[in-house]
Parts: sequence; C-alpha cells; structure tokens
Amino acid sequence: MDLFDPCYAFHDADLLKAAGLFPYFRPLSSSEGPTATVEGRRVIMMGSNDYLGLTHHPEVMQAAHDAIQRFGTGCTGSRFLNGNLDLHEALERELAEFTGKAAALVFASGFLANLGVIGILGSTKDAVLFSEADNHASLMDGARMARASRSRVFKGLDDLARQLQAREEWPNALVIIDGVFSMTGREADLRGIAALKQRYRFRLYVDDAHGIGVLGPGGRGTAAAQGVTDDVDVLFGTFSKSFASLGGFVAADAAVINYLRYRTRTQIFSAALPPASAAAALASLRVLRRDGVLLERLWDNVTYFRDGVQRLGYHTMGSTTPIVPLFVGSETLAFTLCLEAEAMGLFVTPAVYPAVPAGHALIRTSVTPAHSRDHLDTALGVLADLAKRHAIPNVDPATIPPAREMDFQAALKARESGQA
Ligand SMILES: Cc1ncc(COP(=O)(O)O)c(C=O)c1O
Repeated sequence: MDLFDPCYAFHDADLLKAAGLFPYFRPLSSSEGPTATVEGRRVIMMGSNDYLGLTHHPEVMQAAHDAIQRFGTGCTGSRFLNGNLDLHEALERELAEFTGKAAALVFASGFLANLGVIGILGSTKDAVLFSEADNHASLMDGARMARASRSRVFKGLDDLARQLQAREEWPNALVIIDGVFSMTGREADLRGIAALKQRYRFRLYVDDAHGIGVLGPGGRGTAAAQGVTDDVDVLFGTFSKSFASLGGFVAADAAVINYLRYRTRTQIFSAALPPASAAAALASLRVLRRDGVLLERLWDNVTYFRDGVQRLGYHTMGSTTPIVPLFVGSETLAFTLCLEAEAMGLFVTPAVYPAVPAGHALIRTSVTPAHSRDHLDTALGVLADLAKRHAIPNVDPATIPPAREMDFQAALKARESGQA
C-alpha cells in the first residue's frame, strides 16, 4: 500500500457535492458581524462564535489597526526569543485579573494551548488523564501528546466518580473537561466535579472556550457561574469566540504558568500571536469589563431566540448558553436544512459525527448581542418555514441510541460503487 492511497481513495466531499448536500467551506465575501455575504447572497449570520458581537466593535477594530501601525503585521518568531510584545504581557495581566487566577499565558491559538499544556502536564511521572468523552478535539489530541502513563475517557459525572473510586489505579490524576460543550451548548457540572475533588485528590483542567466572556458574573466563565473558580487548577480560554480574535490562553497559579512558559513546546517552538490579534483580544476584554449592557443584550436575545425555536417545535438539547442547537437526528436532513436556510437568507451550520454521535446530527445556531430583533424574527421565520416542510423530531436525543454510521454514508457508498 502506498502512503498516499488514503488520499487517492478519499471521495467523501465529492460524493456529498454530487448529491447536492455539501454544506462546508462556504466562501464569505464580506461580513458585518450579524450579517454576511455568501456567494452574492446577504445572510443573517447565526453560524459564528462571535458571542459578544465584538468582531466589528469600533474600539476592537481600531485597536487592531493601531497595533499594525505600531508593530506591523506579524511577530515573525517565538515570544521566547524575538516575538514578545508588551501587548501580550498586558493581555496576560488583565486575563489573570479577569479570571481570578494568579497568572496567565497567551498562545497563538487555543488549539496550540490545549495541545501543549496538556501535553506537558500529562507527561509528569505517573500522570493519568481522565478526559470527558464529549471533549473538544484539541483536548483529546493534547492527551495523545502527553507521555502519560495512562489516558482514560469518562462519560458524565457518575462514570467519573466510578473510575475515581479505583484510586490505586491513578496516583496522579488530571481531569480534563469542557466548561460548555461546543456543539450542544450544554454546561458541564463543574460543581459536581469540584465535590469529587474534595473526596479524591486530583487536578482539574477546564476548557472554557464557549463559557468565558458569556457565563457567570461579568462573563467570567462557567466555573465562576457555578461558584467553583478556585477548584479549577488550569482554566483555558480562547480569543476566537467571545474575544473576537485569534489565540488562546491558560490561567493558573504563578508557578504553573512560569513552568509552562518555558516548557510548553507549542509556546516555545511556534511564532507569537500577531499584534493585531493580541490587540483585538485585549480591547474585547476591556469592552466586556466596561460595558454594562453587552451581556444583558446577549441574554435578552438568547432567551428570545431559544423560546422562539422551542415554540416552533425544535428540541434545543438542554442548552443554557448562546449556542442554540436544533436537534435533527438525520445527517442528510441536517445538510438539507442548512443549505435551504442559506438559500432563504439564514446562515447556520450542521454538526455531524464525529462532532456529535452518528444519528444525533444537529443544526448549530448562535446568538449575539449584535443581532437585532428583526434579524432574530427573520431567522425564526426561516426556521418556521423549514419546520413546516420537513419532519423535524422533537424528542430528547438522550432517548435515541447512536447509529452505527451516518445515514447518508450507505447511500453514497452505493452510489460510488455504481449500485444507485
Ligand atoms: C472547546 C474548544 N476548545 C478549544 C478550541 C480551539 O480554539 P482555537 O479556535 O482558539 O484554536 C475550540 C475551537 O473550536 C473549542 O471549541
């Protein structure tokens, strides 16, 4: 077998295109935040992670412009040697203050932060990593990078408790979990995990990519919302969502951050976060901390939209966040609905296996404070139209066992082999 055989045998995307079901890599030609242009069509953007609607905030855009004037477009090297900016350091100081941790460390992306930090912490002698089954891919890959003696997966609090009881099997445990699950918008039970921590001694790593900036007092995140900030040993956040930029960070004890600063390979051997990205993230953080009505507007919009889609008969999977998933089940139906929604002026995205279990496809929508009532009403109108024309199941997905494969796969395989 040739090394490239899997490449030559890869036809999934082409088959989906041929079936008129391909919903990915949609080319945006412009964006204003709550609206965008896709292939010449104006759409309401409900497929982003711009949870605070700050990507087009004048102060955030100005800060990015000013940083380019001061530093140019790139750092051209690692912070360790030549790429460290006063902007990175100001951002770290303010993030530490914001998250209630002693120190913070900024990375060029959230994915790199998770890979590197879990990779190095998980390489401590006798480390055993416990990762929640629904964790983000970067957490899973970080666990793979770790030279840990063992890596385990748990599903839910009861399963974690059961595994932790076998204490002799894990001398040194790191429990790793998303604060908010990125597809369903469901919050993790961090309070429950904090209670387990009292009983069994372990370290806790929380990826709050989708909670930081929106949940808890002042948007301080999921742990703050559940009153357990001090139980989180390493708090991860990204700038690619609420902070309207690119980059990621971890916040923790000063000694931990100091160690990570020198030992994390994705920090040392990768170029620094570009000036404009660092400045935009810092400006977003400052706007969030200053603007008293931003979060109020966000939650008004979230409640309005979530109530609206529920009235239309969509199941929103227990989400309590600006991510409003619409359970669909069938992958074919999810693709069809996204494409039809776009044709009617609403941009939303499908989530299918492996992001969710097979047979548990959903339409992922997200609400921001930048959406007007008009935007939300128009979006609800499109979703009402889709609900009328398609059989969308209003059932609790927990009652549906996962399928063995995505429903379009069999049809595509048959088509590929010339049987259909
Ligand atoms: C839960 C979670 N963690 C980490 C990341 C990676 O963040 P970034 O986009 O900054 O690489 C994402 C982004 O998709 C995410 O959803």
